[in-house]
Amino acid sequence: MIDQATVERIIDAADIVDVVEEYVSLKRRGVNYLGLCPFHNEKTPSFTVSPAKQIYKCFGCGKGGSSVNFIMEHEHLSYIEALKYLAKKYHIEVVEEEETPEMIAQRNRHESLMIVTAYAQQFFTNYLMNEPEGRSIGLSYFRERGFRDDTIKKFQLGFCPDGKDIFTQAAQKQGYRMEFLEETGLTIKRDDWVRDRFAGRVIFPFTNLAGRVIAFGGRILKSDPKAAKYLNSPESEIYHKSKTLYGIAQAKNAISRNDKCYLVEGYTDVLSLHQAGIENVVASSGTSLTTEQIRMVKRFTPNITIIYDGDPAGIKASIRGIDMVLEEGINVKVVPLPEGEDPDSFARSMNASSLLEYINTNETDFIRFKTQLLLKETEKDPVARARLINEIVRSIAVIPDNITRSVYIRECSLMLEVSEDLLYAEVRKIKHKANEELIIKEKRESIRAATASKQQQPVETKPKENPCEIEEKALLRILIRYFNEELFKELKEETNQEVSVKVGEYVIAELQNDNLSSVDPTIQQIFDDFFDNYQKEYFNPERFFIQHENPEVSSLVSGLLVDKYIESVIWKKKGAFVEDENEILYILVPRLIEEYKLRHVKLLISEMMKKIGELQSSDNLEQILELQNTITNLKKVEKDLSKKLGKRAVTS
Ligand code: CTP
Ligand code: MN
Repeated sequence: MIDQATVERIIDAADIVDVVEEYVSLKRRGVNYLGLCPFHNEKTPSFTVSPAKQIYKCFGCGKGGSSVNFIMEHEHLSYIEALKYLAKKYHIEVVEEEETPEMIAQRNRHESLMIVTAYAQQFFTNYLMNEPEGRSIGLSYFRERGFRDDTIKKFQLGFCPDGKDIFTQAAQKQGYRMEFLEETGLTIKRDDWVRDRFAGRVIFPFTNLAGRVIAFGGRILKSDPKAAKYLNSPESEIYHKSKTLYGIAQAKNAISRNDKCYLVEGYTDVLSLHQAGIENVVASSGTSLTTEQIRMVKRFTPNITIIYDGDPAGIKASIRGIDMVLEEGINVKVVPLPEGEDPDSFARSMNASSLLEYINTNETDFIRFKTQLLLKETEKDPVARARLINEIVRSIAVIPDNITRSVYIRECSLMLEVSEDLLYAEVRKIKHKANEELIIKEKRESIRAATASKQQQPVETKPKENPCEIEEKALLRILIRYFNEELFKELKEETNQEVSVKVGEYVIAELQNDNLSSVDPTIQQIFDDFFDNYQKEYFNPERFFIQHENPEVSSLVSGLLVDKYIESVIWKKKGAFVEDENEILYILVPRLIEEYKLRHVKLLISEMMKKIGELQSSDNLEQILELQNTITNLKKVEKDLSKKLGKRAVTS
């Protein structure tokens, strides 16, 4: 469809950093850029973009490729569609047949829904700006509310004609199919009648991150107590309420720039704040905040400030929201507004600079805010008080920074009238448990992401891969770094004495007992050298390997020692929970060994299955049976290991 010369021009024009940056906030790290992967959930950035190679690669979920691949993956487009998308972005003309509405409708369903939605937005906007009814009713409403034309344009506001099915008819006349009008909820159809969902309402389009319109909210203009003030598009293949934030496309750059996101409740709140010059603002649209929405914000900043309406319902709603945000490891502040105000009315009541000043001076840290608020409710009720302490401690425990945490503990100890020691002890308990859960959860997620991405890209042209690379590198790193650290104490039966087991001894014994080896010759050489040298008295692995005669060994080891990625991804050393890797070696090292074994067992099983497949036609029943036997045994081991990894209880 697109000729090769044009394809090449598009590929040359598309700069990977530029393309990715539209969706992911990137920070420079040496020659590369680093950010949070948009394809899987992560807390520590492992998504790398290389401008030199013009590729991206996530070391967490394994996804990677060129600008075109990125757009395909992210926007769910085909190769050709992704090329066209980039052509548009870089103003490269793509010459091809003019598409008829019929051809458009024949394209994949997803794209058809997007197209009909885009058409509707243009129709509504045009109607608002250019048709007499739109101007006299819709536009004058917006203007009365104080919205400027540039704001109206920026948010692509619109108006749906007040009739039975004026919009639907116009759309059909243009060739848009009823099927898609119905699926996007723009048209409501019963057996014997058809009508426009948004008739007579002003329109607020919702977009995805890239700014494509995916749904609408419509506000009624009459005061009719029986009708809903706002009506929203129903969920569809292109619109998932829980994954959408109103205003995200217009706000994302400002969120990144300011390293902060304001969160409000209503569409008009977003508009008014923009108009007052505060552009890093989104709305969760009537529903309470979801995890997916928070993750979307987190791609741009870890700082959220909630500006909530100054009424009891507003306060309650925002506390619900805040608890969730905290769980995602985000820094939360709140700005209470005076009673009876919402951000829209409040922003309008003053000029931009005093608004910003109000926000800055009234921004309260969440934990302080919550403590004060709840404290009032627990006077003279010891049970409620205990519950409050537990809740506050929970919030404190997720704070990543040591110093901040101790400041809170001191402050809360005064406010709650309990000792700091008690609070510290509670925090420790919670952190310990949370960390254990996090390790399990994230490991599962990354395994799932890795297998998912493998399934999606079955044809890889890379040389033979080391399937255990990650586990092996993590093990090596730990071996080298903590070789002489004590892992745990063991009671020797003969002497009844406690002896300490070192990290090095433990790992090597585990590897030797199960005869685990690597397919990577360099890694295997390091393992072998460990086996040969670990009992020598002055064996210093770090020095030994960095000065190794084999340059491959020394380069691999030096890489490992500075590789933040291995450090964070493998160890799940999430700042939120673990101050010192050192302290949880006794959890992490056995877990990693088990993970490594599990990986080997899985590989063995699949190798044997393949062999059975090959033998099937050869009539070699004996050999097949033997293999099957081994597989059964391996499966048992696999099950045991998975179970252990799945629910290991922590005894602290
Ligand atoms: N909302 C909704 N459906 C409703 C009512 C409210 O989806 N029937 C959502 C909208 O996103 C709305 C937000 O909840 O913006 C807040 O509701 P509300 O405070 O009632 O509306 P405002 O945003 O203040 O709207 P306006 O100023 O136009 O009255
Ligand atoms: Mn309002």
